[in-house]
Amino acid sequence: MRVLHLTDPHLFADRNGSLRGAVTYDTLQSVIEHYRQGDFAADLIALTGDVIQDDSADAYAHCRDLLSALNLPVFCVPGNHDVRNLMRDVLPDPPFSYCDSLAAGNWLIVGIDSCSAGRAGGKIAERELRRMEETIAASSAEHVMICLHHPPVPMHSKWLDSVGLDNGDEFLARAASAGRVRVAIFGHVHQDYDAGHEGVRLIATPSTCRQFLPRVDDFAVDDSPPAYRCIELRSDGSVSAELIWVKSG
Ligand SMILES: [Fe+2]
Repeated sequence: MRVLHLTDPHLFADRNGSLRGAVTYDTLQSVIEHYRQGDFAADLIALTGDVIQDDSADAYAHCRDLLSALNLPVFCVPGNHDVRNLMRDVLPDPPFSYCDSLAAGNWLIVGIDSCSAGRAGGKIAERELRRMEETIAASSAEHVMICLHHPPVPMHSKWLDSVGLDNGDEFLARAASAGRVRVAIFGHVHQDYDAGHEGVRLIATPSTCRQFLPRVDDFAVDDSPPAYRCIELRSDGSVSAELIWVKSG
């Protein structure tokens, strides 16, 4: 199973809309184009939230139009900048799915909503944690990947950790107790992260637009370019993940 991980595109209704100097429609397009020209042939796109920036249905429509061109299922979870109702309305049908689960080979992929209404930080509702556990328990898959928006661990960045995931420890404990969760992928942090945590690999992919400077107390933009990640879920339960930076020009 090969997964193209895209996250935090922050699109606007206006295609010229920009976020801290990046025209987000153009940077997502450049990421898609870079993927198309590479050798990695994904079976699925995982889109881990902050799809839009301006609360508009038109921004979701841009996402739909850009990603539909790849002819791949798009497995979506919301981020704090998303408007859940709009997201479900505009991305309701295949190839898009919203907080769904999918079995492929001996892998199960589960998308969960980590957002907490009205806040940048997240908290996974008990209902979502239970859905994760029940979905895993009902599956015969040997290996599981979880997709969510917020980071389950601190990023050692004061400002970013103040808008992190309230119950990351609980999520990790319950994911680990399922015994089959090999990897969790997320966005929100607009930077690279790839580390193991008690047998679960945790991977953040930088945004398709602007990045944040890692490990700083106060917010700062990083000059790193847009990015995406190619993830391979192997049948033996191992995971390979390659981060690709998309330099312009
Ligand atoms: Fe974001």
